Amino acid sequence: MAAASAPGKLILFGEHAVVFGEPALSTAIDLRTEVYARPPPEWLADGASLDSPKYRYVKAAATRAWRDGPLWFETRSMIPVGSGLGSSAAVTVATLGALQSLGGTFDVPAIAREAFEVEHEVQGRASPIDTSTSAAGGGILVRRDPGSNLLWSISRDTRRWSLHRCSLPELTFVVGDTGISAPTGPLVAGVKERVERDAKVASIVRDIGRITLDGLAALQDGDLEAAGRLMNRNHEALNALGVGHPMLDKFVAAARAHSYGAKLTGAGGGGSIVALTDDADRTARAIEAAGGRAFTVTSDADGLRRIA
Ligand code: PMV
Repeated sequence: MAAASAPGKLILFGEHAVVFGEPALSTAIDLRTEVYARPPPEWLADGASLDSPKYRYVKAAATRAWRDGPLWFETRSMIPVGSGLGSSAAVTVATLGALQSLGGTFDVPAIAREAFEVEHEVQGRASPIDTSTSAAGGGILVRRDPGSNLLWSISRDTRRWSLHRCSLPELTFVVGDTGISAPTGPLVAGVKERVERDAKVASIVRDIGRITLDGLAALQDGDLEAAGRLMNRNHEALNALGVGHPMLDKFVAAARAHSYGAKLTGAGGGGSIVALTDDADRTARAIEAAGGRAFTVTSDADGLRRIA
């Protein structure tokens, strides 16, 4: 038997813009998924068929990365599904980690690349931010061109992303989940169409890139007030890209009363907001009073790990 554990993630700045090559900043969080794999006589995941939609990432990972006989998987996850916390990236990375481990290797950059291909296959046009953050852990800056602290670069078609390690202070976030599931693929496709049609929308994508770099500098300086203001600006820019939702605006307004700033996180259209705060209890209660589900998470340095 082999097993691996991988963290969820939060995108702090730059979602959607990153698909167009702009910078984005994410961090791994202290919620994890474990995947166990062992070879018995049939394909199963948690005793169920691998064909169930719940296991599509596990199945796609196994189809790509395992050439031998059937496997029995067991998955255990602390990451809420469909809340923008990277549950699909974590299960993909942990499955690939368990498979490599079973095959006697553990090559994290190779797993990050393969995990991006799996996510691309299952969800359509995407960037490697979720999967690479889960593989590497800690703070991750994605940029088109490689620079200092480069972890790895990943290319697809004419696009290239270079994933960099960036050190962030320990940060506390409250996530507010709308419970509205909005698949990433169609939201990304909608932004692409609007960017191609309207030069103003294309310039918002570039604004988000600048907000991301300013946000990174503010976090690294420990200026959480400036970082919060930039999160607020990033939220308005995402609304202007057409990926907002009235519930997200409502949660962001509720959270801002007790936090440095708040924005939608991930693909939007539903999903979740993230608030940067040092008063997690009051922020969570405000989001709950506005009708959301709230989770407090902290940034975490630990990426993919072999656990058996
Ligand atoms: O919804 P999530 O957490 O998978 O985030 C998607 C982030 C996007 O930038 C919208 C798409 C991507 O793959 O980068």
